[in-house]
Amino acid sequence: MRRLLIAGNWKMNLNLAKSVTLAEGLKEAAKNVTDIDIAVCPPAVYVQPVGIAIAGSNIGLGAQDVYFEKEGAFTGEISTAMLLDIGCKYVILGHSERRHILHESSELINQKVVAALNAGLTPILCVGELLSEREAGVTDAVIRRQFDGSLSNVSAEQMKKVVIAYEPVWAIGTGKVATPEQAEEVHDGIRSLITERYGKEVADVVRIQYGGSVKAENAKDILLKPNVDGALVGGASLKIDAFMGIINGVK
Ligand code: 13P
Repeated sequence: MRRLLIAGNWKMNLNLAKSVTLAEGLKEAAKNVTDIDIAVCPPAVYVQPVGIAIAGSNIGLGAQDVYFEKEGAFTGEISTAMLLDIGCKYVILGHSERRHILHESSELINQKVVAALNAGLTPILCVGELLSEREAGVTDAVIRRQFDGSLSNVSAEQMKKVVIAYEPVWAIGTGKVATPEQAEEVHDGIRSLITERYGKEVADVVRIQYGGSVKAENAKDILLKPNVDGALVGGASLKIDAFMGIINGVK
């Protein structure tokens, strides 16, 4: 059985005080949740204080990106060792905002995925189509391209640790959530793709999250679908009640 993973992607929001308050509030509110994995991914500069705030809790700590080189002259970048050093377990990679706004290629994302896995971090690899791509009927091809491009040189054993987040770009921050059926169709396709590339044993354990305008009101129906193993939550992860509403709705 795959455990649900509900992760908050705080993106470039909040400040130090608000990050710590949110983290402390979540620690308290989620203390009795035992059957679902929970994670928060604050902005890079707040990962450590949030990690201190949630220490000893059942909430995992994540970052929103990492660089693939081990150390050296890479101004502005952060290494896997640095993330591990401050208690990180997860790292979001290939988010559509990084693919489309910061022009990250699947090749670069692949280097980051491999570095994260080699370091022992759990990558949350995001894939997803633009509205124009969905309308053109090429969703499946886009996901396959992103999947293959981002996961080359990842072994079957390593693949078991990867979390995939299906985030249709048209649903991110738009309030336009995918229907449970739309999400399940793509998730089922991703699981088939994992089977094709790595075999059924691996496909059975890889968690596939849905992301894009997830809220308490729509989460349950999506999360009940057989191939949906959690959610990557943006806006609704910034408020305790909204985030806990998603978690409590499926508990
Ligand atoms: P929203 O939940 O704000 O639509 O963001 C989704 C997302 O991009 C999570 O990574």
